[in-house]
Amino acid sequence: MSLEEMLPSTQSLILVSIAILLSGISYLVQTKKQKRAIHEQLSSWLPNISRGRRTSTSKTPPRSLTPEKKVPNNAPPPNGYKDIFPPSSRGNLPVWTRSWTSIFGAFKRSENGDTNQELLKKNVIPWEADYRKCSSSTYTPMEITIGEVKALGDFPNYSKLSGVPLPEAYKEFEIEKAISRPYRPFRWAYHQTMSLSQLEPEWWLELEHTYVERIAERKGLFEKYGKMVLNYLPGSELGCKEIMENALQFLCARYPQYFSLTHSRSKGYIFRNGLLKNETVIKDMHPLHVLLENVPEDFAVMLRNPEDGMYYFRAGLLCSSLGWNVDTKLGMQLKEIHSPIPDYKAKMEFSMDRYFSRLPTDRPIQRGSWGLEIDTPLFMPPGDPHEKHREVQHPDLPLSHIHLRVDWQTLRRLPLSGAIIFNFKALFTPIEEFRNEPYIPALVTKVLKDGKKSIMEYKNTWHVEHVALPALEKWAEEQEEKGMAERDWEVRTLEESPWFPGWKEKWHRQQGF
Ligand SMILES: *[C@@H]1O[C@H](CO)[C@@H](O)[C@H](O)[C@H]1NC(C)=O
Ligand SMILES: *[C@@H]1O[C@H](CO)[C@@H](O)[C@H](O)[C@H]1NC(C)=O
Ligand SMILES: *[C@@H]1O[C@H](CO)[C@@H](O)[C@H](O)[C@H]1NC(C)=O
Repeated sequence: MSLEEMLPSTQSLILVSIAILLSGISYLVQTKKQKRAIHEQLSSWLPNISRGRRTSTSKTPPRSLTPEKKVPNNAPPPNGYKDIFPPSSRGNLPVWTRSWTSIFGAFKRSENGDTNQELLKKNVIPWEADYRKCSSSTYTPMEITIGEVKALGDFPNYSKLSGVPLPEAYKEFEIEKAISRPYRPFRWAYHQTMSLSQLEPEWWLELEHTYVERIAERKGLFEKYGKMVLNYLPGSELGCKEIMENALQFLCARYPQYFSLTHSRSKGYIFRNGLLKNETVIKDMHPLHVLLENVPEDFAVMLRNPEDGMYYFRAGLLCSSLGWNVDTKLGMQLKEIHSPIPDYKAKMEFSMDRYFSRLPTDRPIQRGSWGLEIDTPLFMPPGDPHEKHREVQHPDLPLSHIHLRVDWQTLRRLPLSGAIIFNFKALFTPIEEFRNEPYIPALVTKVLKDGKKSIMEYKNTWHVEHVALPALEKWAEEQEEKGMAERDWEVRTLEESPWFPGWKEKWHRQQGF
Protein backbone atom coordinates (compact mmCIF):
# COMPACT_ATOMS: atom_id res chain seq x y z
CA MET A 1 0.00 0.00 0.00
CA SER A 2 1.38 3.39 -0.85
CA LEU A 3 1.99 6.16 1.60
CA GLU A 4 -0.85 8.22 0.17
CA GLU A 5 -3.40 5.45 0.50
CA MET A 6 -2.63 4.80 4.09
CA LEU A 7 -2.57 8.32 5.37
CA PRO A 8 -5.66 9.22 7.33
CA SER A 9 -8.17 11.10 5.25
CA THR A 10 -8.52 13.97 7.66
CA GLN A 11 -6.28 16.46 9.29
CA SER A 12 -6.13 14.11 12.19
CA LEU A 13 -3.59 12.58 14.53
CA ILE A 14 -2.02 15.76 15.54
CA LEU A 15 0.63 14.02 17.53
CA VAL A 16 1.72 12.60 14.25
CA SER A 17 2.49 15.99 12.88
CA ILE A 18 4.74 16.59 15.83
CA ALA A 19 6.37 13.29 15.04
CA ILE A 20 6.84 14.29 11.44
CA LEU A 21 8.48 17.46 12.59
CA LEU A 22 10.67 15.78 15.10
CA SER A 23 12.01 13.59 12.36
CA GLY A 24 12.57 16.53 10.04
CA ILE A 25 15.78 17.20 8.25
CA SER A 26 16.27 20.80 9.21
CA TYR A 27 14.28 23.29 11.18
CA LEU A 28 13.36 26.93 11.31
CA VAL A 29 12.74 29.04 14.33
CA GLN A 30 12.11 32.71 14.96
CA THR A 31 15.05 34.37 16.57
CA LYS A 32 18.68 33.56 17.09
CA LYS A 33 18.03 33.17 20.77
CA GLN A 34 15.20 30.73 20.22
CA LYS A 35 17.19 28.94 17.62
CA ARG A 36 20.02 28.43 20.00
CA ALA A 37 17.69 27.25 22.75
CA ILE A 38 15.90 24.80 20.52
CA HIS A 39 19.11 23.55 19.07
CA GLU A 40 20.50 22.93 22.50
CA GLN A 41 17.35 21.14 23.46
CA LEU A 42 17.02 18.96 20.43
CA SER A 43 20.47 18.36 19.12
CA SER A 44 21.30 15.73 21.65
CA TRP A 45 18.07 13.81 21.17
CA LEU A 46 17.22 14.00 17.53
CA PRO A 47 19.58 12.14 15.29
CA ASN A 48 19.21 14.23 12.23
CA ILE A 49 19.77 17.74 13.41
CA SER A 50 22.80 17.27 15.58
CA ARG A 51 25.19 19.69 14.06
CA GLY A 52 26.64 21.22 17.15
CA ARG A 53 28.29 20.31 20.35
CA ARG A 54 26.00 19.22 23.10
CA THR A 55 25.62 21.89 25.73
CA SER A 56 24.10 21.36 29.09
CA THR A 57 20.90 23.35 29.33
CA SER A 58 18.69 21.84 31.94
CA LYS A 59 19.48 22.43 35.57
CA THR A 60 19.22 18.74 36.14
CA PRO A 61 20.51 16.80 33.17
CA PRO A 62 18.61 13.78 31.88
CA ARG A 63 19.49 10.82 34.01
CA SER A 64 19.70 7.18 33.39
CA LEU A 65 19.86 4.67 36.16
CA THR A 66 22.74 3.08 34.36
CA PRO A 67 24.59 6.27 33.58
CA GLU A 68 27.87 4.76 32.45
CA LYS A 69 26.39 3.01 29.46
CA LYS A 70 26.76 5.15 26.39
CA VAL A 71 23.81 4.86 24.08
CA PRO A 72 24.61 5.20 20.37
CA ASN A 73 23.18 8.42 19.07
CA ASN A 74 20.71 6.89 16.68
CA ALA A 75 19.60 3.66 18.31
CA PRO A 76 17.17 2.95 21.12
CA PRO A 77 18.86 2.33 24.46
CA PRO A 78 20.06 -1.31 24.69
CA ASN A 79 17.88 -2.07 27.70
CA GLY A 80 14.90 -0.12 26.47
CA TYR A 81 13.48 2.86 28.29
CA LYS A 82 12.64 1.10 31.53
CA ASP A 83 15.66 2.59 33.33
CA ILE A 84 15.42 6.00 31.75
CA PHE A 85 13.67 8.48 33.98
CA PRO A 86 12.81 12.04 32.97
CA PRO A 87 15.07 14.87 34.18
CA SER A 88 14.23 15.20 37.87
CA SER A 89 12.49 18.26 39.25
CA ARG A 90 13.57 17.40 42.79
CA GLY A 91 16.01 20.33 42.83
CA ASN A 92 13.07 22.74 42.45
CA LEU A 93 11.20 21.56 45.56
CA PRO A 94 10.94 24.20 48.24
CA VAL A 95 13.25 23.41 51.15
CA TRP A 96 10.43 23.27 53.68
CA THR A 97 8.73 20.47 51.75
CA ARG A 98 11.85 18.40 51.78
CA SER A 99 12.46 18.89 55.47
CA TRP A 100 8.81 18.21 56.27
CA THR A 101 9.02 14.76 54.75
CA SER A 102 12.40 14.11 56.29
CA ILE A 103 10.95 14.74 59.72
CA PHE A 104 8.42 12.03 59.15
CA GLY A 105 11.03 9.73 57.72
CA ALA A 106 9.17 9.35 54.46
CA PHE A 107 12.25 8.47 52.50
CA LYS A 108 15.82 7.45 53.02
CA ARG A 109 18.86 9.16 51.69
CA SER A 110 22.23 7.74 50.84
CA GLU A 111 25.33 8.96 52.74
CA ASN A 112 26.13 11.70 50.28
CA GLY A 113 22.68 13.19 50.76
CA ASP A 114 21.36 12.29 47.33
CA THR A 115 18.30 10.21 46.89
CA ASN A 116 19.28 6.73 45.94
CA GLN A 117 18.31 6.09 42.35
CA GLU A 118 17.78 2.42 43.00
CA LEU A 119 15.28 3.50 45.61
CA LEU A 120 13.43 5.51 43.00
CA LYS A 121 13.36 2.57 40.66
CA LYS A 122 12.04 0.21 43.32
CA ASN A 123 9.52 2.61 44.79
CA VAL A 124 8.24 4.33 41.70
CA ILE A 125 4.46 4.66 41.68
CA PRO A 126 2.92 1.52 40.13
CA TRP A 127 1.13 1.76 36.81
CA GLU A 128 -2.56 2.64 37.24
CA ALA A 129 -2.11 3.46 40.95
CA ASP A 130 -3.96 6.47 42.36
CA TYR A 131 -1.30 8.62 44.07
CA ARG A 132 -3.76 9.52 46.84
CA LYS A 133 -3.76 5.90 47.96
CA CYS A 134 0.00 5.34 47.75
CA SER A 135 2.37 5.43 50.73
CA SER A 136 4.30 8.66 51.31
CA SER A 137 7.54 6.97 50.36
CA THR A 138 6.35 6.12 46.84
CA TYR A 139 8.09 8.14 44.15
CA THR A 140 6.75 9.76 41.04
CA PRO A 141 9.07 9.40 38.01
CA MET A 142 10.27 12.94 38.79
CA GLU A 143 12.04 11.69 41.92
CA ILE A 144 9.51 13.34 44.19
CA THR A 145 7.75 11.35 46.90
CA ILE A 146 3.99 11.21 47.33
CA GLY A 147 4.64 12.58 50.84
CA GLU A 148 6.17 15.64 49.22
CA VAL A 149 3.37 15.93 46.68
CA LYS A 150 0.86 15.92 49.54
CA ALA A 151 2.92 18.40 51.56
CA LEU A 152 2.91 20.79 48.60
CA GLY A 153 -0.89 20.68 48.64
CA ASP A 154 -3.20 22.19 46.03
CA PHE A 155 -2.02 24.88 43.60
CA PRO A 156 1.68 24.78 44.51
CA ASN A 157 4.01 27.22 42.78
CA TYR A 158 4.30 25.45 39.41
CA SER A 159 6.43 28.19 38.03
CA LYS A 160 9.09 27.36 40.61
CA LEU A 161 8.61 23.60 40.27
CA SER A 162 8.84 23.55 36.48
CA GLY A 163 11.08 26.50 35.69
CA VAL A 164 8.45 27.91 33.27
CA PRO A 165 7.64 31.47 34.38
CA LEU A 166 4.06 32.59 34.91
CA PRO A 167 2.94 35.28 32.44
CA GLU A 168 2.67 38.98 33.18
CA ALA A 169 -0.85 40.36 33.54
CA TYR A 170 -2.29 41.43 30.16
CA LYS A 171 -3.92 44.61 31.39
CA GLU A 172 -4.93 46.17 28.07
CA PHE A 173 -6.75 42.98 27.04
CA GLU A 174 -10.47 43.28 26.35
CA ILE A 175 -12.28 40.04 25.76
CA GLU A 176 -15.08 41.55 23.63
CA LYS A 177 -12.58 42.52 20.92
CA ALA A 178 -9.89 39.91 21.37
CA ILE A 179 -8.74 37.72 18.52
CA SER A 180 -5.82 35.34 18.69
CA ARG A 181 -2.57 36.33 17.10
CA PRO A 182 -2.72 35.66 13.33
CA TYR A 183 -0.78 32.42 13.12
CA ARG A 184 0.25 31.61 9.55
CA PRO A 185 2.53 28.57 9.95
CA PHE A 186 3.20 28.15 6.22
CA ARG A 187 6.56 26.81 5.25
CA TRP A 188 8.46 26.36 2.04
CA ALA A 189 10.29 24.21 1.20
CA TYR A 190 7.67 22.38 3.09
CA HIS A 191 9.18 19.01 3.88
CA GLN A 192 12.52 20.37 4.92
CA THR A 193 11.51 22.58 7.76
CA MET A 194 10.56 21.99 11.33
CA SER A 195 8.67 24.88 12.80
CA LEU A 196 9.22 23.92 16.34
CA SER A 197 9.96 26.67 18.78
CA GLN A 198 10.23 27.24 22.44
CA LEU A 199 6.88 28.04 24.04
CA GLU A 200 6.32 31.73 24.68
CA PRO A 201 5.10 31.42 28.27
CA GLU A 202 3.01 34.62 27.99
CA TRP A 203 0.91 33.19 25.18
CA TRP A 204 0.17 29.68 26.34
CA LEU A 205 -3.63 30.01 26.74
CA GLU A 206 -4.84 32.79 24.47
CA LEU A 207 -8.46 33.85 24.95
CA GLU A 208 -10.67 35.24 22.19
CA HIS A 209 -13.97 37.10 21.94
CA THR A 210 -15.62 33.75 21.22
CA TYR A 211 -14.80 32.53 24.75
CA VAL A 212 -18.34 32.19 26.12
CA GLU A 213 -19.78 30.54 23.02
CA ARG A 214 -16.77 28.21 22.65
CA ILE A 215 -17.14 26.99 26.23
CA ALA A 216 -20.85 26.37 25.57
CA GLU A 217 -20.06 24.59 22.30
CA ARG A 218 -17.49 22.37 24.00
CA LYS A 219 -19.85 21.52 26.82
CA GLY A 220 -22.48 20.67 24.22
CA LEU A 221 -19.99 18.33 22.53
CA PHE A 222 -19.40 16.57 25.83
CA GLU A 223 -23.11 16.19 26.42
CA LYS A 224 -23.53 14.72 22.97
CA TYR A 225 -20.41 12.59 22.69
CA GLY A 226 -19.40 11.86 26.31
CA LYS A 227 -16.32 9.67 26.45
CA MET A 228 -15.41 10.47 22.89
CA VAL A 229 -14.33 13.93 24.06
CA LEU A 230 -13.47 13.47 27.76
CA ASN A 231 -12.22 10.40 29.54
CA TYR A 232 -9.51 9.27 31.94
CA LEU A 233 -7.92 6.00 33.03
CA PRO A 234 -6.61 4.91 36.45
CA GLY A 235 -3.23 6.36 37.35
CA SER A 236 -3.90 9.69 35.64
CA GLU A 237 -5.16 11.43 38.82
CA LEU A 238 -2.03 13.45 39.55
CA GLY A 239 -1.36 14.37 35.93
CA CYS A 240 -4.95 15.62 35.49
CA LYS A 241 -4.85 17.63 38.72
CA GLU A 242 -1.53 19.13 37.76
CA ILE A 243 -2.50 20.30 34.28
CA MET A 244 -5.77 21.77 35.60
CA GLU A 245 -3.96 23.68 38.35
CA ASN A 246 -1.33 24.89 35.89
CA ALA A 247 -3.98 26.16 33.50
CA LEU A 248 -5.99 27.99 36.18
CA GLN A 249 -2.85 29.56 37.65
CA PHE A 250 -1.97 30.77 34.19
CA LEU A 251 -5.42 32.30 33.60
CA CYS A 252 -5.37 34.10 36.97
CA ALA A 253 -1.91 35.53 36.31
CA ARG A 254 -2.57 36.50 32.70
CA TYR A 255 -6.14 37.80 32.94
CA PRO A 256 -6.57 38.96 36.56
CA GLN A 257 -9.43 41.21 35.42
CA TYR A 258 -11.50 38.09 34.71
CA PHE A 259 -10.25 35.22 36.85
CA SER A 260 -9.27 34.62 40.44
CA LEU A 261 -8.67 31.78 42.81
CA THR A 262 -9.82 31.97 46.39
CA HIS A 263 -9.83 29.56 49.25
CA SER A 264 -12.47 28.92 51.84
CA ARG A 265 -12.38 26.64 54.83
CA SER A 266 -15.50 24.71 53.89
CA LYS A 267 -15.19 24.55 50.10
CA GLY A 268 -11.43 24.61 49.58
CA TYR A 269 -10.23 26.29 46.37
CA ILE A 270 -12.80 28.17 44.30
CA PHE A 271 -12.11 29.44 40.78
CA ARG A 272 -14.07 32.61 39.99
CA ASN A 273 -14.80 33.13 36.33
CA GLY A 274 -15.78 36.71 35.54
CA LEU A 275 -16.58 35.90 31.90
CA LEU A 276 -19.13 33.20 32.67
CA LYS A 277 -20.02 35.03 35.89
CA ASN A 278 -19.88 31.92 38.01
CA GLU A 279 -17.49 29.87 40.05
CA THR A 280 -16.15 26.34 40.14
CA VAL A 281 -15.54 24.57 43.43
CA ILE A 282 -12.42 22.67 42.49
CA LYS A 283 -12.82 19.67 44.78
CA ASP A 284 -16.36 18.97 43.54
CA MET A 285 -15.27 18.15 40.01
CA HIS A 286 -12.82 15.97 38.13
CA PRO A 287 -9.93 18.19 36.95
CA LEU A 288 -10.76 17.60 33.28
CA HIS A 289 -14.30 18.83 33.95
CA VAL A 290 -12.89 21.92 35.63
CA LEU A 291 -11.00 22.51 32.38
CA LEU A 292 -14.05 21.80 30.23
CA GLU A 293 -16.02 24.40 32.23
CA ASN A 294 -13.37 27.11 32.02
CA VAL A 295 -10.64 26.61 29.42
CA PRO A 296 -11.50 26.40 25.72
CA GLU A 297 -8.46 24.30 24.80
CA ASP A 298 -7.71 20.61 24.37
CA PHE A 299 -5.42 18.55 26.59
CA ALA A 300 -4.04 15.04 26.25
CA VAL A 301 -2.23 13.53 29.24
CA MET A 302 0.56 11.08 28.40
CA LEU A 303 2.03 9.04 31.26
CA ARG A 304 5.20 7.04 31.68
CA ASN A 305 4.57 3.36 32.30
CA PRO A 306 7.18 2.13 34.81
CA GLU A 307 7.04 -1.35 33.29
CA ASP A 308 8.57 -0.30 29.99
CA GLY A 309 9.42 3.39 30.40
CA MET A 310 7.20 4.23 27.42
CA TYR A 311 4.53 6.93 27.25
CA TYR A 312 0.82 6.20 27.03
CA PHE A 313 -2.22 8.37 26.40
CA ARG A 314 -4.12 8.03 29.71
CA ALA A 315 -6.54 10.94 29.95
CA GLY A 316 -7.87 13.55 27.61
CA LEU A 317 -10.22 16.42 26.96
CA LEU A 318 -10.36 16.78 23.19
CA CYS A 319 -13.18 18.75 21.58
CA SER A 320 -11.31 19.87 18.46
CA SER A 321 -10.13 16.66 16.89
CA LEU A 322 -11.04 15.83 13.31
CA GLY A 323 -11.45 12.16 12.47
CA TRP A 324 -10.10 10.81 15.76
CA ASN A 325 -11.08 11.30 19.39
CA VAL A 326 -10.35 10.31 22.96
CA ASP A 327 -12.20 7.04 22.58
CA THR A 328 -10.26 5.86 19.56
CA LYS A 329 -6.84 6.52 21.12
CA LEU A 330 -7.14 6.28 24.91
CA GLY A 331 -4.80 3.78 26.55
CA MET A 332 -2.48 3.56 23.57
CA GLN A 333 1.26 3.88 23.53
CA LEU A 334 2.78 6.59 21.33
CA LYS A 335 3.60 4.14 18.56
CA GLU A 336 0.11 2.64 18.64
CA ILE A 337 -1.45 6.08 18.35
CA HIS A 338 0.57 6.48 15.19
CA SER A 339 0.13 2.99 13.80
CA PRO A 340 -1.93 4.12 10.76
CA ILE A 341 1.07 6.08 9.55
CA PRO A 342 3.37 4.14 7.29
CA ASP A 343 7.05 4.76 7.92
CA TYR A 344 6.34 5.84 11.49
CA LYS A 345 8.28 2.90 12.81
CA ALA A 346 11.18 3.30 10.48
CA LYS A 347 11.47 7.07 10.50
CA MET A 348 9.90 8.55 13.59
CA GLU A 349 9.31 6.08 16.37
CA PHE A 350 12.77 6.26 17.80
CA SER A 351 13.02 10.06 17.74
CA MET A 352 9.64 10.43 19.36
CA ASP A 353 10.29 7.88 22.10
CA ARG A 354 13.63 9.41 22.91
CA TYR A 355 12.27 12.92 22.85
CA PHE A 356 9.48 12.00 25.26
CA SER A 357 11.80 10.11 27.58
CA ARG A 358 14.13 13.09 28.06
CA LEU A 359 11.92 16.17 27.81
CA PRO A 360 12.67 18.44 30.79
CA THR A 361 9.97 20.53 32.47
CA ASP A 362 11.55 23.87 31.60
CA ARG A 363 11.56 23.31 27.83
CA PRO A 364 7.95 23.40 26.64
CA ILE A 365 7.54 23.77 22.88
CA GLN A 366 4.95 25.21 20.51
CA ARG A 367 4.12 24.86 16.84
CA GLY A 368 1.26 25.11 14.40
CA SER A 369 -0.26 22.79 11.86
CA TRP A 370 -2.81 23.95 9.32
CA GLY A 371 -5.50 22.91 6.89
CA LEU A 372 -8.26 24.50 4.81
CA GLU A 373 -11.87 23.87 5.75
CA ILE A 374 -15.35 24.76 4.63
CA ASP A 375 -16.86 26.74 7.50
CA THR A 376 -15.40 26.09 10.95
CA PRO A 377 -15.69 22.41 11.88
CA LEU A 378 -14.35 21.92 15.40
CA PHE A 379 -14.98 18.29 16.18
CA MET A 380 -15.61 15.56 13.66
CA PRO A 381 -16.22 12.01 14.85
CA PRO A 382 -15.65 9.30 12.24
CA GLY A 383 -18.61 9.25 9.86
CA ASP A 384 -19.59 12.87 10.52
CA PRO A 385 -21.57 14.36 7.60
CA HIS A 386 -18.96 17.10 7.35
CA GLU A 387 -16.45 14.49 6.10
CA LYS A 388 -18.40 14.27 2.84
CA HIS A 389 -17.47 17.88 2.06
CA ARG A 390 -13.94 16.67 1.63
CA GLU A 391 -14.80 14.25 -1.14
CA VAL A 392 -16.18 16.73 -3.64
CA GLN A 393 -15.27 20.09 -5.11
CA HIS A 394 -18.61 21.90 -4.87
CA PRO A 395 -18.82 24.01 -8.03
CA ASP A 396 -20.66 26.83 -6.26
CA LEU A 397 -18.58 26.95 -3.07
CA PRO A 398 -18.40 30.61 -1.99
CA LEU A 399 -14.90 31.90 -1.29
CA SER A 400 -16.16 33.43 1.94
CA HIS A 401 -16.87 29.97 3.34
CA ILE A 402 -13.27 28.81 3.11
CA HIS A 403 -11.29 29.05 6.34
CA LEU A 404 -7.75 28.47 7.40
CA ARG A 405 -7.75 26.18 10.40
CA VAL A 406 -4.60 26.39 12.52
CA ASP A 407 -4.10 23.95 15.34
CA TRP A 408 -1.72 25.77 17.63
CA GLN A 409 -0.04 23.11 19.73
CA THR A 410 2.13 22.93 22.80
CA LEU A 411 4.00 20.09 24.45
CA ARG A 412 5.33 20.18 28.01
CA ARG A 413 6.29 17.99 30.90
CA LEU A 414 4.71 18.56 34.31
CA PRO A 415 7.04 18.66 37.31
CA LEU A 416 5.28 16.43 39.85
CA SER A 417 3.70 13.57 37.91
CA GLY A 418 6.13 13.71 35.02
CA ALA A 419 3.12 13.57 32.68
CA ILE A 420 3.66 14.98 29.21
CA ILE A 421 0.81 17.22 28.13
CA PHE A 422 -0.06 17.70 24.52
CA ASN A 423 -2.33 20.72 24.25
CA PHE A 424 -3.89 22.61 21.37
CA LYS A 425 -6.53 25.04 20.23
CA ALA A 426 -8.15 25.26 16.82
CA LEU A 427 -8.22 28.76 15.30
CA PHE A 428 -10.22 29.69 12.21
CA THR A 429 -9.60 32.60 9.82
CA PRO A 430 -11.46 33.28 6.55
CA ILE A 431 -8.84 32.98 3.82
CA GLU A 432 -10.02 36.33 2.44
CA GLU A 433 -7.88 37.81 5.22
CA PHE A 434 -4.75 36.74 3.31
CA ARG A 435 -5.37 39.39 0.69
CA ASN A 436 -3.67 42.12 2.72
CA GLU A 437 -1.07 39.91 4.38
CA PRO A 438 2.22 40.34 2.49
CA TYR A 439 3.59 37.20 0.82
CA ILE A 440 0.97 34.90 2.36
CA PRO A 441 -1.08 34.34 -0.86
CA ALA A 442 2.06 33.43 -2.83
CA LEU A 443 3.32 31.16 -0.09
CA VAL A 444 0.05 29.26 0.27
CA THR A 445 -0.27 28.97 -3.51
CA LYS A 446 3.17 27.42 -3.68
CA VAL A 447 2.43 24.88 -0.96
CA LEU A 448 -0.93 23.94 -2.49
CA LYS A 449 0.49 23.55 -5.98
CA ASP A 450 3.89 22.05 -5.35
CA GLY A 451 3.65 20.52 -1.88
CA LYS A 452 4.60 16.89 -1.54
CA LYS A 453 1.60 14.85 -2.58
CA SER A 454 1.42 12.76 0.59
CA ILE A 455 1.57 15.78 2.85
CA MET A 456 -1.05 17.65 0.90
CA GLU A 457 -3.42 14.71 0.99
CA TYR A 458 -2.87 14.53 4.70
CA LYS A 459 -3.79 18.18 4.93
CA ASN A 460 -6.90 17.66 2.89
CA THR A 461 -7.06 20.84 0.92
CA TRP A 462 -8.25 19.42 -2.39
CA HIS A 463 -11.96 20.03 -1.71
CA VAL A 464 -11.49 23.80 -1.64
CA GLU A 465 -8.58 24.26 -4.04
CA HIS A 466 -10.75 24.94 -7.11
CA VAL A 467 -11.97 28.13 -5.41
CA ALA A 468 -9.04 28.98 -3.14
CA LEU A 469 -6.21 28.70 -5.66
CA PRO A 470 -7.49 31.16 -8.28
CA ALA A 471 -8.19 33.70 -5.54
CA LEU A 472 -4.79 33.25 -3.92
CA GLU A 473 -3.03 33.59 -7.28
CA LYS A 474 -4.94 36.76 -8.00
CA TRP A 475 -4.04 38.25 -4.61
CA ALA A 476 -0.38 37.29 -5.00
CA GLU A 477 -0.27 39.18 -8.27
CA GLU A 478 -2.13 42.11 -6.80
CA GLN A 479 0.41 42.32 -3.97
CA GLU A 480 3.24 42.48 -6.49
CA GLU A 481 1.48 45.23 -8.42
CA LYS A 482 0.87 47.24 -5.26
CA GLY A 483 4.44 46.75 -4.09
CA MET A 484 3.40 44.77 -1.02
CA ALA A 485 5.62 41.95 -2.23
CA GLU A 486 8.63 42.18 -4.54
CA ARG A 487 8.22 40.98 -8.09
CA ASP A 488 9.58 37.52 -8.72
CA TRP A 489 9.98 36.98 -5.02
CA GLU A 490 11.38 33.52 -4.48
CA VAL A 491 8.82 31.79 -2.31
CA ARG A 492 10.25 30.60 0.97
CA THR A 493 9.35 30.43 4.66
CA LEU A 494 9.07 33.98 5.94
CA GLU A 495 11.50 35.33 8.49
CA GLU A 496 8.44 36.35 10.52
CA SER A 497 7.01 32.81 10.41
CA PRO A 498 4.59 31.80 11.90
CA TRP A 499 3.47 35.37 11.15
CA PHE A 500 4.00 37.81 8.30
CA PRO A 501 5.48 41.31 7.93
CA GLY A 502 3.24 43.83 9.63
CA TRP A 503 1.15 41.26 11.48
CA LYS A 504 1.28 43.16 14.76
CA GLU A 505 -0.13 46.34 13.26
CA LYS A 506 -2.91 44.43 11.55
CA TRP A 507 -3.73 42.51 14.69
CA HIS A 508 -3.80 45.58 16.94
CA ARG A 509 -5.92 47.42 14.37
CA GLN A 510 -8.44 44.58 14.21
CA GLN A 511 -8.69 44.27 17.97
CA GLY A 512 -8.59 47.97 18.75
CA PHE A 513 -6.01 47.49 21.52
C1 LIG B 1 19.23 11.81 8.25
O1 LIG B 1 18.62 12.27 7.09
C2 LIG B 1 19.22 11.79 5.91
C3 LIG B 1 18.57 12.51 4.74
O2 LIG B 1 17.18 12.40 4.78
C4 LIG B 1 19.06 10.28 5.86
O3 LIG B 1 19.62 9.77 4.68
C5 LIG B 1 19.73 9.67 7.06
O4 LIG B 1 19.52 8.28 7.09
C6 LIG B 1 19.21 10.30 8.34
N1 LIG B 1 19.98 9.87 9.48
C7 LIG B 1 19.45 9.37 10.57
C8 LIG B 1 20.39 9.01 11.62
O5 LIG B 1 18.23 9.24 10.72
C1 LIG C 1 6.69 31.23 42.59
O1 LIG C 1 8.04 31.03 42.28
C2 LIG C 1 8.60 32.02 41.45
C3 LIG C 1 9.95 31.55 41.00
O2 LIG C 1 10.69 31.08 42.07
C4 LIG C 1 8.61 33.33 42.22
O3 LIG C 1 9.18 34.35 41.42
C5 LIG C 1 7.18 33.69 42.58
O4 LIG C 1 7.16 34.85 43.36
C6 LIG C 1 6.51 32.55 43.33
N1 LIG C 1 5.10 32.86 43.45
C7 LIG C 1 4.46 32.80 44.59
C8 LIG C 1 3.02 33.13 44.55
O5 LIG C 1 5.01 32.50 45.63
C1 LIG D 1 -21.04 28.62 34.43
O1 LIG D 1 -21.92 29.21 33.49
C2 LIG D 1 -22.04 28.49 32.27
C3 LIG D 1 -22.82 29.34 31.29
O2 LIG D 1 -24.00 29.80 31.87
C4 LIG D 1 -22.69 27.14 32.56
O3 LIG D 1 -22.81 26.40 31.38
C5 LIG D 1 -21.79 26.38 33.53
O4 LIG D 1 -22.37 25.15 33.89
C6 LIG D 1 -21.49 27.20 34.77
N1 LIG D 1 -20.43 26.53 35.48
C7 LIG D 1 -20.50 26.24 36.76
C8 LIG D 1 -19.33 25.54 37.34
O5 LIG D 1 -21.47 26.52 37.43
